[in-house]
Amino acid sequence: TRVGILLSGRGSNMRALVEQARGYEVALIASDKPEAAGIAWARERGLPTFALSPKGIGKAAFEAEIDRALREAGVEVIALAGYMRLLSDDFVARWRGRIVNIHPSLLPRYKGLDTHARAIAAGDAVAGCSVHLVTEELDGGAVLGQAQVPVLPDDTPETLAERVLAEEHRLYPRVLSEFTMTPLDRLRTLAAALPEVE
Ligand code: GRF
Repeated sequence: TRVGILLSGRGSNMRALVEQARGYEVALIASDKPEAAGIAWARERGLPTFALSPKGIGKAAFEAEIDRALREAGVEVIALAGYMRLLSDDFVARWRGRIVNIHPSLLPRYKGLDTHARAIAAGDAVAGCSVHLVTEELDGGAVLGQAQVPVLPDDTPETLAERVLAEEHRLYPRVLSEFTMTPLDRLRTLAAALPEVE
């Protein structure tokens, strides 16, 4: 399965998806921020990138360009990795069921921003991250996988974010592999795990 990754910043989840790719291949890394650190990392490694700022061209034209770049790269599934812009309903509809995102909370709790500060303020004993399908509702699509992290007594949003991020880097590649696996891949994986019969 050919995956396109959309990011806006640091790109640590994108790196995890590239470095732990199994059963999918990263066909394009695209950004709405040409100066994003994640794009520089991908370029240095010779990975296919596409960067375009929406400034001055309008949302519809910007998304049409992203859509075109993804299709030209043969992308079948889009993985959002710290992509900080809302995709339009039209875009989501065109890729329905084929966009996934990683969110730093145990959804359905704490959709949107500042998830770690909100988890600490609520006195939660566990926090974590979720990989979910993207729908028109922000952080609202079906959850495909989650990982939990304990909240420690003296956690700040920063220390908690760091421990959750380490889990994100394990969870996202694993869930994306499962999500992109065809039924035939699944059978092959099962068969390979069977003991050999004499
Ligand atoms: C991650 O915490 C992710 O869960 C959220 O945005 C952050 C992106 O970090 N959606 P990075 O760019 O992947 O390092």
